[in-house]
Amino acid sequence: MIHTVGIIMNGVTGRMGLNQHLARSVYAIMQQGGVKISDDETIMPKPLLVGRNQAKLESISREFGGLKWSTDVDSALSDPQYSIYFDAQTTDRRADAVRKAVAAGKNIYCEKPIANTVDMAYDLYKQASKAGVKHGVVQDKLWLPGMLKLKTLRELGFFGKILSVRGEFGYWVFEGDTVPAQRPSWNYRKEDGGGLIIDMLCHWRYVLDNLFGEVKAVSCLGATHVPTRWDEKGKPYQCTADDSAYATFELEGGVIAHFNSSWCVRVRRDDLFTMQVDGSKGSAVVGLRDCWIQPYGATPRPVWNPDIPSTINYFDGWQKVPEQANFENAFKVQWELFLRHVVKDGPFRWTLLEAVKGVQLAEKGIESWKKRAWVDVPAIA
Ligand SMILES: NC(=O)c1ccc[n+]([C@@H]2O[C@H](COP(=O)([O-])OP(=O)(O)OC[C@H]3O[C@@H](n4cnc5c(N)ncnc54)[C@H](O)[C@@H]3O)[C@@H](O)[C@H]2O)c1
Repeated sequence: MIHTVGIIMNGVTGRMGLNQHLARSVYAIMQQGGVKISDDETIMPKPLLVGRNQAKLESISREFGGLKWSTDVDSALSDPQYSIYFDAQTTDRRADAVRKAVAAGKNIYCEKPIANTVDMAYDLYKQASKAGVKHGVVQDKLWLPGMLKLKTLRELGFFGKILSVRGEFGYWVFEGDTVPAQRPSWNYRKEDGGGLIIDMLCHWRYVLDNLFGEVKAVSCLGATHVPTRWDEKGKPYQCTADDSAYATFELEGGVIAHFNSSWCVRVRRDDLFTMQVDGSKGSAVVGLRDCWIQPYGATPRPVWNPDIPSTINYFDGWQKVPEQANFENAFKVQWELFLRHVVKDGPFRWTLLEAVKGVQLAEKGIESWKKRAWVDVPAIA
């Protein structure tokens, strides 16, 4: 039996919508013959691409073998063939669109952040719960190969007691005047929903909550290091949003986490995002795909002496975790879980309530920055 699931996909002309959600997730699932849930049951997604730009939609449709498309979101929402509304538009457009989709009785799956304020985000969660629709938010980092390896190490008890976590995220995003910018210009304009804190603290919330303990308090310093950038039309604009954040988090259970996140740093580390976890029995450094470990018994004994060259090459003391499984695209893994959730009521913890927590941490981070103080992060239910 094939369960065909209609998905209205909004924002597929954008970076995330096109590459991660359509090409590497929904279309990839179609190409592999759907999500096989038993010997005789399969879920097959049926996307409807929606957006404003007819030419772009037509061209994407052609590229993916003639998928259906429409510029009329309202009539798509009233079509009972489609039971899921997916949104990867710019952040500031999400809340209104999701609200409409909930009112139309659609199940909701969407990119993070789900809104720019925690009140708006919580209202979306409440409306979706009241309407009885299923809902989920993208929390892709949880399924990155590096994170899955880290999770296994934790489950093996490799770390002993986890003491601290330090994350380094970032790379140089070009301003757009000489070398082309590799991120959209709205990211750098507050008035268009941009800003690194709202973008990245949403991710750090679910990474920390799921792997190390619920975030209880935050101290965050934001900055706009690059004041002027050039937009998609080559016009200079003022950057009104933060492009960097230096944030410390206190977690339930006593773990201390510190994450530097920046679009204005040059990379001299193993990956665009690395996270070092130090525990009483061992440490690990994870990148997007790889993970390196150093157990207690192989920990070097450095002695501070800048007068002579170091006798230890600190990189040599780490061992790469071998590949013990095949890892699929992180977005695709979560899509498959959501489809199972919609069709077979499979477990799915990554709901709009979890999305609210992400927006809450970003909002508390900004509050901490403005107040120049630690801010508590109360539990949300
Ligand atoms: N999960 C992740 O790792 C991750 C990474 C990057 C971005 N995101 C999130 O994904 C979302 C999209 O980001 P992106 O980088 O793909 O942005 P983008 O600018 O590349 O794409 C934005 C999409 O929104 C549409 N859009 C913009 N203005 C519109 C308007 N006025 N009317 C209708 N549609 C409009 C665009 O046509 C496009 O389809 C953001 O909310 C962002 O926070 C998530």
